[in-house]
Amino acid sequence: MKTLILFSSRDGQTREIASYLASELKELGIWADVANLHRTEEPDWDSYDRVVIGASIRYGHYHSAFLEFVKKHASRLNSMPSAFYSVNLVARKPEKRTPQTNSYVRKFLLRSPWRPDRIAVIAGALLYPRYRWYDRMMIKLIMKMSGGETDTNKEVIYTDWDQVARFAREVAQLAPNPLVK
Ligand SMILES: Cc1cc2nc3c(=O)[nH]c(=O)nc-3n(C[C@H](O)[C@H](O)[C@H](O)COP(=O)(O)O)c2cc1C
Repeated sequence: MKTLILFSSRDGQTREIASYLASELKELGIWADVANLHRTEEPDWDSYDRVVIGASIRYGHYHSAFLEFVKKHASRLNSMPSAFYSVNLVARKPEKRTPQTNSYVRKFLLRSPWRPDRIAVIAGALLYPRYRWYDRMMIKLIMKMSGGETDTNKEVIYTDWDQVARFAREVAQLAPNPLVK
């Protein structure tokens, strides 16, 4: 049996984290398939004994495709060991990197019909040169207000890869549900 890792990404960082997670799981002897949630209608659930979903934040929100996927597949997700990772820039501050202190995750959990067994809040990437003018200006403003990087020539990866490796170990330890299979 394999692990399914689905990612909902706009600029690629959540996908990068999914790939890293898969390679860390492989080191632990667990095979994982990585798939783009936006292109996944109905996963072949019976091929997997664990699922991980990662989703990024843009202007305060997860992608609607991610929220709809969770709603549609909540009972399946709840019936198997599952984990969620949330990617955003607020999490570049360590004190905003837990499910209790990160407002995007707190808000999500209040409304989500899916109850993941493990949750990680992971800092994403700041890629000024790749953003459209409007987005670049908006992010610069947000960064200025929150004491972050404002040099729009820069690309900064805030992701803590050791944290991703620790999350992989947590995912590896999730026990398959004996009642389902
Ligand atoms: C247009 C835009 C809006 C963003 N809005 C937020 C935000 O509201 N809060 C936040 O913490 N991060 C925000 N971010 C940062 C992203 O969450 C971060 O860049 C992340 O790495 C994106 O992941 P992805 O490449 O997988 O989509 C925003 C980034 C962009 C480009």
